[in-house]
Formats: sequence, structure tokens, C-alpha cells
Amino acid sequence: MHSIFISGAAQGIGAAIATLFYQHGYKVGIYDINIDQAQALAQQLGTRAKAGLLDVSDYSQWQHTLSEFKAWSGEINVLVNNAGILYSGAFEQTDITAHHRTIDINVKGVLNGCHAALPYLQKASFARVINLSSASAIYGQPDLVTYSASKFAVRGITEGLDIEWQKYGIRVLDVMPLFVQTAMVKDMDAGSIKNMGVHLSAEDVANQIYRQVQVKDSIFTPTHQPVGFKSKILFSLSKVSPQFVNRMSNMFLAKRE
Ligand code: NAI
Repeated sequence: MHSIFISGAAQGIGAAIATLFYQHGYKVGIYDINIDQAQALAQQLGTRAKAGLLDVSDYSQWQHTLSEFKAWSGEINVLVNNAGILYSGAFEQTDITAHHRTIDINVKGVLNGCHAALPYLQKASFARVINLSSASAIYGQPDLVTYSASKFAVRGITEGLDIEWQKYGIRVLDVMPLFVQTAMVKDMDAGSIKNMGVHLSAEDVANQIYRQVQVKDSIFTPTHQPVGFKSKILFSLSKVSPQFVNRMSNMFLAKRE
């Protein structure tokens, strides 16, 4: 029986991933800064789910929780670096501590997770890492500058490690969804969400991640997986269109009335 360790799994996309993998027979680790909600979900799912407190920005907490989860599950097969936060609005009107916090959680959280989990993944019979990047890692986003930058960092971490850890037989992949209907996008202050709308559910992203965990490893297995029609179009176009076209189209898509 395989196991999956998910950060930020108390609600939203993380909770949908936990539920889907539980339904497919996995042992599921639901780790979050919100311990009450994490425990409630684990209880609701059943005996193959375990919850715990984890602040992804704290490396020692990662070491502790991974060791605890491994002792319970036997081995760790899948790590999903899902925990994330988002501040929106004009760059200069956002407090610098919010910009820093975004990097601490969205970037350092992923570095911490990958670094602390590797010894367990190396020993597992099958191992894969899935990171939550975003469609905002296709082109830098106005009103979401630091969030967008943090997801570019996740994209870079994923690409580099997917090559580096080939020696261990571990694929490191990411998903790049456009806006997903969760608490994160409620009250978001950015033109792009008003212009493009929210058309994805947390379950859509979880289904994509399940496919990426199941897919046979081959040289054709894509490292990045845009989720949803619009994200796929933007991802494909960005690779072939000239820079000024990318800039103009993003300016248009993020336009405020
Ligand atoms: P959400 O806000 O519903 O859930 C985020 C979860 O992360 C919460 O349970 C929260 O308690 C937890 N969390 C926050 N800080 C934490 C920390 N320091 N340590 C551990 N857990 C922490 O957000 P959602 O939408 O489910 O997002 C999940 C991931 O998907 C994030 O990385 C996000 O950037 C990414 N994503 C979301 C999109 C969206 O439109 N909702 C689109 C693309 C990517």
C-alpha cells in the first residue's frame, strides 16, 4: 500500500488530493498549520489517514513530521508540496512583511519539503514529488508579483530537481492551474481573475495530480502540467510568441476597469 504526504492539506486543493488518494487506497498524511481542520479531515476519511501540525517554513518541523509519518506508514512514496499563501494588490501597497512571508512559505516551504523528504523517498519502493506551481509561473503577474515570482521559483526547483534526482529514479513534477475555486481566490484583488474567471475546482487539480503520480516514467513524461483549457493555451502560446506579445497579452488579461 502506497502513502502520500501532503502539506497544507486541511482545506482546498490539499484536502481534495487527500480525499482522492484515500479513495484510491493510499495511506494519507494531512499536514497543515491548521491542525484542527487537518484532524477533522483525517477523522472524516478514516484509519488510513493521519493528521499533524506542520509549518512548512520551519525545517525542523518537516524533519519531525516526516519521521513520524514514515514510522506510521512504513514508507513515503509521494510528497505533495501544496501549502501556499497569496497576497494580491499593488506591489507598493502590500506590506513588505507580506512579500517576505510569501517567499518563506511558497518557496522555502518547497525547498524544506524536498530536502527533508529525500532520505525517505530514496528508500521507498516507488517515489515521486508533485509541486504546486501555477499558471502565474507562465508570465509575471501584475497585482500578484511576489506570488507569481514564488511560483516561478517552484517551477525552477521542479525542473532542476527533476533532472538532478533522475539518479535516484525520482521524478519531480508540477501542476500549473489557473484560478481554482478555493479560499485562496476569495476576495482576490487582481484584474486577471475578473477578466478570466474561476473555472477549475480543487477536484480538477487533484485528478490531474493523481494522473501524474500514476503515469509511467518515460522521457516523454512532461515536467509541467498546466491544468484547464486556458492554462494550457497560455502555456503553449508563451513558448512560441514574441516577448512583446506575451507582455501585451498579459497586460490586457490583467487590465482593471
Ligand atoms: P487554500 O488557502 O484553500 O489552502 C492552503 C492551505 O495551506 C490551508 O489549509 C492553509 O492552512 C495551509 N497553509 C498555509 N500556510 C501554511 C504553512 N506555513 N504551513 C503549512 N500549511 C500552511 O489554498 P489552495 O487554493 O488550496 O492552494 C493550494 C496550493 O495550490 C497553493 O500552493 C496555491 O498557491 C496553489 N494554487 C492555487 C490556485 C488557486 O487559484 N486556488 C491556482 C494555482 C495554484
